[in-house]
Amino acid sequence: MISKAGLGSRTEARRWIHAGRATVNGRRIENPDHWVDLERDQVRFDGKPLKAVARVYVLLHKPTGYLTTYKDPDGRPTVYALLKDVGTFVSPVGRLDLETSGLLLLTNDTQLAERVTNPESHVPKTYLVTASRALADGELEQLRRGVELNDGLTRPAQVARAAGAENQVLLTITEGRNRQVRRMIEALGATVEALARTRIGSIAAESLPVGAWRHLSASEVDSLRMKPRKKGSTT
Ligand code: URA
Repeated sequence: MISKAGLGSRTEARRWIHAGRATVNGRRIENPDHWVDLERDQVRFDGKPLKAVARVYVLLHKPTGYLTTYKDPDGRPTVYALLKDVGTFVSPVGRLDLETSGLLLLTNDTQLAERVTNPESHVPKTYLVTASRALADGELEQLRRGVELNDGLTRPAQVARAAGAENQVLLTITEGRNRQVRRMIEALGATVEALARTRIGSIAAESLPVGAWRHLSASEVDSLRMKPRKKGSTT
């Protein structure tokens, strides 16, 4: 609850609770797993009632070289270094690898985050892939049909050649397995030289500069909440 109220990360919230800064119905609670009923219980932090914070939806154009995590034990830069002025704590919706750039959503709306990351929601994510070599038409067809990875066959994907460069393709997937795009390209015997996420659902990078963030518009948030298309639907 403390983290959801935008006060800090889950790890920090757990530490603060252990340190005795939270009370539930006037009683100090030092167990972060203590169950509270939002309707009935009164939670205070440092003596002040926890207020429900407004939902915040952030779209970051992540540069390469930034980790999608809150703090790195090795001191490498994390996306939070780029989000200092957001004003409330937001969590990443899925992850991008250290060397992947592009669109990353962050929010304090756990329900929406779960919807976007759950493969059952089929929210499409598009990546501009720069491969180590030009991919043959047959290989693009393989990506479309699905390739066998060590955690199973990938779902059918949309694949198009990117204009201008022989070794670039736009790949749209509706799952989000760990390092999925890199592994799909490796399954063809090539490697990924650069990877950028250009689209999440209907939200595109457009003019957002690398390293910058903006709030999602209300219609962009709504578009992510929409139910997936039914099989066989043509709209
Ligand atoms: N697929 C990958 O391989 N890496 C990412 O960062 C995102 C998708």
